[in-house]
Amino acid sequence: MTTSQLHIALLAFPFGSHAAPLLTLVQKLSPFLPSDTIFSFFNTSQSNTSIFSEGSKPDNIKVYNVWDGVTETNGNKPVGLEAIKLFIQATPTNFEKVMKEAEEETGVKFSCIFSDAFLWFSYKLAEKINVPWIAFWTAASGSLSVHLYTDFIRSNDETSLNIPGFSSTLKISDMPPEVMAENLDLPMPSMLYNMALNLHKAAAVVLNSFEELDPTINKDLKVKLQKVLNIGPLVLQPTSPKKVLDACDERGCIIWLEKQKEESVVYLSFGTVTTLPPNEIVAVAEALEAKKFPFIWSLKDNGIKNLPTGFLERTGQFGKIVSWAPQLEILNHSAVGVFVTHCGWNSILEGISCGVPMICRPFFGDQKLNSRMVESVWQIGLQIEGGSFTKIGTISALDTFFSEEKGKVLRENVKGLKERALEAVKPDGSSSKNFKDLVELVKCHKLT
Ligand SMILES: *[C@@H]1O[C@H](CO)[C@@H](O)[C@H](O)[C@H]1NC(C)=O
Ligand SMILES: *[C@@H]1O[C@H](CO)[C@@H](O)[C@H](O)[C@H]1NC(C)=O
Ligand SMILES: *[C@@H]1O[C@H](CO)[C@@H](O)[C@H](O)[C@H]1NC(C)=O
Repeated sequence: MTTSQLHIALLAFPFGSHAAPLLTLVQKLSPFLPSDTIFSFFNTSQSNTSIFSEGSKPDNIKVYNVWDGVTETNGNKPVGLEAIKLFIQATPTNFEKVMKEAEEETGVKFSCIFSDAFLWFSYKLAEKINVPWIAFWTAASGSLSVHLYTDFIRSNDETSLNIPGFSSTLKISDMPPEVMAENLDLPMPSMLYNMALNLHKAAAVVLNSFEELDPTINKDLKVKLQKVLNIGPLVLQPTSPKKVLDACDERGCIIWLEKQKEESVVYLSFGTVTTLPPNEIVAVAEALEAKKFPFIWSLKDNGIKNLPTGFLERTGQFGKIVSWAPQLEILNHSAVGVFVTHCGWNSILEGISCGVPMICRPFFGDQKLNSRMVESVWQIGLQIEGGSFTKIGTISALDTFFSEEKGKVLRENVKGLKERALEAVKPDGSSSKNFKDLVELVKCHKLT
């Protein structure tokens, strides 16, 4: 078996919005590496289909299906936490098995293991074959930091926490649930805790963010980890030609936005996983209708059925409901005035990249922490009062952006961050430099 070629093993975490950014990163790396570099992408069963449907799979990416840990389903495929649990239990042997196949099939030994940071056992696989482990953290540097502080946070008696780079308003209640889990042996908490204990073994930790967003947190991370490489926002560095606009025009979002006043439109979307509870859908709808705020709301059919009777007819003049929205194009349109979001990292990063202030309604994972950062650290938006939508709370939050001085300040702040993000991805910007570092790191491990 040869070692004269680069062969990069990419290990994806197949849940939520984890696998896609890893693929994006490969596509970005690929042109900077020797043309005979092989990428082997390991993900559960859907991956081959989804990669091919993207239509942009470079020829040098080989896709391998990893066992999802499901033995017999009796027709009921496990979902949610149960599916995650089964998958975690199947690691690392499910990965090892296909990784071996990939080496045999290509005849080339791996030169590096590039994994989702969640897959902390990758350090063992990398040690075994004496190659570096590079970990990809798909969320913000703040949420990475709190995982590294798990022991400190769990032993803290105060309701407020003092961790570098967070404002003094940081609370225990802002923590990702895994950090505070009663039992750290449960699959998700244990995976994240083990990640925290082992991440310093990674030759580098790569983040889809930019250093200037969280300078103090990054300084602290650099003390704890070997190498911290913020290389984002990836959305500001398009790798493939835009094809989304057609899909967008199909629903007429951009054409509709063209007719709206500057910074007047409310864009609402809660990601692909979350569905708003019915009472909150009603509250949001009533708020939009009462104030006649122009809006685009990305809402699936199961949400539409909870709208107040006649809502679609009464608001058709000033609002638009779509089952899927070309989010980046919408946010980047000058007519959009505020983004109402669940505060998943990709959404926040897109909001920042387009300079749109946010109203946060967090649900799970790192979303509460992200909302805290939006409101108290970056000061580019608000958390919804009381943690969920009421008609009054929603009107009040929206009014902040359309008729109050405070809204102007938040908008200015996010536009400032957008400029910093654009600086970071310029050829001499921090993210571009970090990206070059990453390329060198991947390259120099060619074992000749
Ligand atoms: C990875 O696998 C998951 C689950 O099978 C699937 O939903 C996702 O689209 C896949 N992603 C990629 C980039 O292959
Ligand atoms: C993925 O698709 C390609 C092309 O259709 C095929 O050659 C390959 O065997 C597939 N791999 C898996 C793991 O399904
Ligand atoms: C937003 O639009 C401008 C052109 O109006 C473009 O230069 C920029 O790349 C876009 N930003 C994003 C994040 O798509």
